[in-house]
Amino acid sequence: MSDPAWLVEGRPHLWRPYCQMKTANPALPVVATRGSRLVLADGRELVDGLASWWTACHGYNHPHIAAAVRDQLERMPHVMFGGLSHEPANRLATRLAKLLPGDLDHVFLAESGSVSVEIAMKMALQFHINRGVTGRTRFLAFRGGYHGDTLATMTVCDPDEGMHSLFTGVMPQQVIGDLPRDGESTAALEMLVAAHARELAAIVVEPLVQGAGGMLFHPPEVLRTLRRIADENGLLLILDEIFTGFGRTGTMFAMEQAGIVPDVVTLSKALTGGTMPLSAAVARRHVFDAFWSEDAGVALMHGPTYMAHALACAAANASLDLFEDGGWKADVTRVSAGLEAGLRPCRAMPGVVDVRVLGAIGVVELERVDDLEALRKAFLAHGVWVRPLGRVVYLTPSFTIPDGDLAALTAAVRAVLSVRDHSG
Ligand SMILES: Cc1ncc(COP(=O)(O)O)c(C=O)c1O
Repeated sequence: MSDPAWLVEGRPHLWRPYCQMKTANPALPVVATRGSRLVLADGRELVDGLASWWTACHGYNHPHIAAAVRDQLERMPHVMFGGLSHEPANRLATRLAKLLPGDLDHVFLAESGSVSVEIAMKMALQFHINRGVTGRTRFLAFRGGYHGDTLATMTVCDPDEGMHSLFTGVMPQQVIGDLPRDGESTAALEMLVAAHARELAAIVVEPLVQGAGGMLFHPPEVLRTLRRIADENGLLLILDEIFTGFGRTGTMFAMEQAGIVPDVVTLSKALTGGTMPLSAAVARRHVFDAFWSEDAGVALMHGPTYMAHALACAAANASLDLFEDGGWKADVTRVSAGLEAGLRPCRAMPGVVDVRVLGAIGVVELERVDDLEALRKAFLAHGVWVRPLGRVVYLTPSFTIPDGDLAALTAAVRAVLSVRDHSG
């Protein structure tokens, strides 16, 4: 069946993400989504292994979220947030403050993950300035990390392996270390921090899983060490839970597994159940207090046009209703078991260096991938939507994926990897 006219006409005009436009496989025309499936223009259905970049945690087109957005649309799609407020944002902020541990009570709503990380970084820089501390202008971030594609977030991504290595040396240089996984790496990190202690504003890290940097897991102890190092050196700790938040690692937030509370946390992706763009940078009381003053000059000067979008907040409230219903934990446990059982046989395959599962994240790490586009095509031939990150094949399905679809995903991974030409 030929491509639809809208795809043919639009193709030369759309600059696609993360894509060498000249050589990449053509983008697939999706005309509908249902549950854990993508429906293509030619009628084919793909089982979705990614939940749309880890957003659609309840599955696509959840009727409760759809109804909430429809209802909000009838009344008020959006109003500017400067000087105005609305019920969906107020309800959402109240609920997030209640859901998050400790005194993470002050919610700044934006529209994308990268922007919320930028806001968290800005909060940290200004936190010190407002308290009369000068010179704390840099961030400690980690190899393997990913925090977004905007200019400031690029500087806290992995400088070599990430998507932004081309820009190394162009942007401000942050202090990049290795995660403190053992005595030796902890000592090395402590030395690194000591060398830069007076110029650092904050530590920025993805808790438990460095996602886009390669689905790299670390134990909760790492986060407790980072909390200690931050406290000992007067740094803020920013946890980027944009990927890990809302159940993905088995707890509502990854930080719960470490029993720590960051100074600022960023949230996005599954916040709206994958329906609308929305993000939040949520600060603790002492951070907020540093901006609380009679002096307008120390306020947080930030306000994206579409911040706190009413439709997005309505979607997020509906998504939180679904989380409150409580079934998600059992779903994540079931998906986790399915990923573990389905991917385990890959351990014995040649060219596989690791298989790991945490919550609803399943990873098969390969020694190398010589032709990424060919690998992506092979998954399509098996009727699944799987998009490896370099040599890391991973599954992050919706929590509600039926057992049959989950089995189809893991079977496709086994089938594709077992016939791979490892000779390159
Ligand atoms: C941990 C983390 N932080 C930030 C971002 C950036 O979010 P966005 O793509 O919404 O800007 C991502 C996106 O993958 C992410 O995984």
